[in-house]
Amino acid sequence: MAASEVNSANTVSSKLVLEHVSKSFRTRTLTVHALDDVTLRIAEGEFVCLVGPSGCGKSTLLNIIAGLERPDRGLVQADGKTIVGPGPHRLVMFQEASLFPWLTVLGNVLFGLKLINSVSAAERREKAEYFLELVGLKKFMHSNVHELSGGMKQRVALARALAPNPSVLLMDEPFGALDALTREQLYGDIQRIWS
Ligand SMILES: Nc1ncnc2c1ncn2[C@@H]1O[C@H](COP(=O)(O)OP(=O)(O)O)[C@@H](O)[C@H]1O
Ligand SMILES: [Mg+2]
Repeated sequence: MAASEVNSANTVSSKLVLEHVSKSFRTRTLTVHALDDVTLRIAEGEFVCLVGPSGCGKSTLLNIIAGLERPDRGLVQADGKTIVGPGPHRLVMFQEASLFPWLTVLGNVLFGLKLINSVSAAERREKAEYFLELVGLKKFMHSNVHELSGGMKQRVALARALAPNPSVLLMDEPFGALDALTREQLYGDIQRIWS
């Protein structure tokens, strides 16, 4: 790779930059070093998976990138700016769909869009329907959350996370609680949507 390409991959187009990030948790009985000197760069358009045994710090790293946790040491930047808290540009999908049970499928997807003031009600509705179509749930848009299967709930969570057009989508074992067949299908869907 040419030097200029290395440079552009490392600096200009780095979407996320983590440098020497460390994080410990101290409880009454013990101290856990969840992350120890992690350095990582992720470029625009990359799809990166963190793989490791349970308890090795994957969620901690995602939470730090999401701005939900602060590192003890190190630098964490998104688009060249230090991450100081959560924001609409970096959205998270968790293992449980964490949908709002008092809202319909459509209401859940509209929720995140309501935080964006520049979008009119009609545009929000159009966007929400577009993303529900993308995850194959448009015909369930008026359903209640309790009427959906686990896989369908995660699809709604995915549509809700994608609708505000985040520049980074963080997924923490998003399909871990689903059966093997549904999980395979959703992995395929994620790849298709990402492409
Ligand atoms: N809020 C917390 N308080 C105390 N310990 C924590 C907390 N969050 C995570 N840990 C500890 O940090 C380590 C890494 O956890 P985690 O990032 O959740 O791992 P993973 O997602 O890879 O399974 C574990 O030992 C866990 O017990
Ligand atoms: Mg985890």
